[in-house]
Amino acid sequence: MRIHVANHPLIDHKLTALRDERTDSPTFRRLADELVTLLAYEATRDVRVEPLSIRTPVGPTIGVHLAHPRPLVVPILRAGLGMLEGMTRLMPTAEVGFLGMIRDEKTLQASTYATRLPDDLSGRQCYVLDPMLATGGTLIAAINFLIDRGADDITAICLLAAPEGVAAMREAFDGRTKVPVSIVTGALDERLNEHGYIVPGLGDAGDRLYGVV
Ligand code: URA
Repeated sequence: MRIHVANHPLIDHKLTALRDERTDSPTFRRLADELVTLLAYEATRDVRVEPLSIRTPVGPTIGVHLAHPRPLVVPILRAGLGMLEGMTRLMPTAEVGFLGMIRDEKTLQASTYATRLPDDLSGRQCYVLDPMLATGGTLIAAINFLIDRGADDITAICLLAAPEGVAAMREAFDGRTKVPVSIVTGALDERLNEHGYIVPGLGDAGDRLYGVV
């Protein structure tokens, strides 16, 4: 499994504002959106393209466009929705599928409550959006779901990750699947606390994006 930690001053600057408990929901949504676009730049480094012949005003040339089948962007509901627009802004012709997952706050186990995805993901590059890689339970379940449907290359984009989640992802995928799995994250934080929250983290990403329900 490949992990890329952004380590970029502009990303750290925006993450600091995002983490700050005084940041309100509208600002939090805007910052999350901006951060995804910056992270997506790295996450899509290996997105497949096909040659395309065009004419510039000066003459013919061969450029590229996104290959078929189109990449699939999969936000994990609910918090991943806050990352969708930032991602599709960068890849407007990508298709979007939805995976609703919830983690039990006591057992920290993830379960699926909604899916809206093509049945056959053969040959698809998938970009999973989940702001927080904490225990890894949700992301591992989501990635296994995509692998079972035939996805052949999966990149998870997370605003923050905990070392425990990265270790769980390695345990789940290293040497266990032929499907390349990557994580692109804004920062690798210190640890998880006893409630499964990332420290220092930013709190509950879904609540901070959309309020408490
Ligand atoms: N989910 C969140 O929203 N925040 C965390 O810190 C961990 C999981």
